[in-house]
Amino acid sequence: MHQAKGESCAKIILIGEHAVVYGQPAIALPIKSIKLQVTVTPTQDHQQKIRSTFYRGLLADAQPPFTGLTKLISRLLVFFSAESQGFTLTIESALPAERGMGSSAACAIAIIRAFYAAFDTPLDRATLLNWAAVSEKAIHGNPSGLDAATTSADRPQWFIRGAAPKAIHFPSRGVLVIADTGEMGQTGAAVGHVADLLRRDHAQFQPLIESIGLASRKAAVALAQDDLPALGKQLNTAQAALSQLGVSAPSLDRLIQAAAAAGALGAKLTGSGQGGCMIALAQDSTSAATIAQALHRAGAAATWQYDFSESEAI
Ligand code: MEV
Repeated sequence: MHQAKGESCAKIILIGEHAVVYGQPAIALPIKSIKLQVTVTPTQDHQQKIRSTFYRGLLADAQPPFTGLTKLISRLLVFFSAESQGFTLTIESALPAERGMGSSAACAIAIIRAFYAAFDTPLDRATLLNWAAVSEKAIHGNPSGLDAATTSADRPQWFIRGAAPKAIHFPSRGVLVIADTGEMGQTGAAVGHVADLLRRDHAQFQPLIESIGLASRKAAVALAQDDLPALGKQLNTAQAALSQLGVSAPSLDRLIQAAAAAGALGAKLTGSGQGGCMIALAQDSTSAATIAQALHRAGAAATWQYDFSESEAI
């Protein structure tokens, strides 16, 4: 084993969250400018340590939600026959945690990449995503795999659970404004809430899952035809269904309304909801700046902008 690094980035789900858990398609974007980096450095003392903003200490003493990552690391060590190897694993992340930007999946992806690099072992995409499922399952219970697929991708992804993710074309015009409510959203709790609704009254709630799936398909057509207003409409349709599924929140609704009033073509929560981030679609960068100002006035803790032209710039 030698010192090595692994990288990943933030993700934003354009459309399809929650429904993707039940086999519907989703579209998500890697945000390459918001990075996460893991460095694994071998040590002689047999101690296995983590250094990050959220946890500093021995791997064995980590508490939830870090235990998902410790499970992943323990299994990687068994795979590399290095159970008693000492190391320090340093996580440097620009991603806000528990805001729907995929921080747990991004951590897992960068850790797996760092260990494979440290043991000079080639890593294909399917193996990477299978490993990421180890910690994502421990953290969220029933992950679709979308977060891991996107935080490890170079381009926007068209994703259906169980199938290989595919790159999807984005128009060269259009800007997404991303805004953080400043409130934590817990993926496990939100996914569990939707599962409860479906268990309690399948006939009432399954059509909402299907309407999100249909909105994702129509959004894919809008993207292929460079039709931003049609895309915005599908974002609003998905938001209405997500709200009926109980995964929006007053803080998200306030930002979504502010974005619409400031001229957004569509707006919705992104990620698991019940807090976290929202996205608004703007025609161009001038409109995006107006929307971002309105979002700050309405209480956004932070905003980012993602220009669709970035999606082809790899
Ligand atoms: C969380 O970022 C996305 C969800 O659809 C859960 C999942 O896909 O595993 C809510």
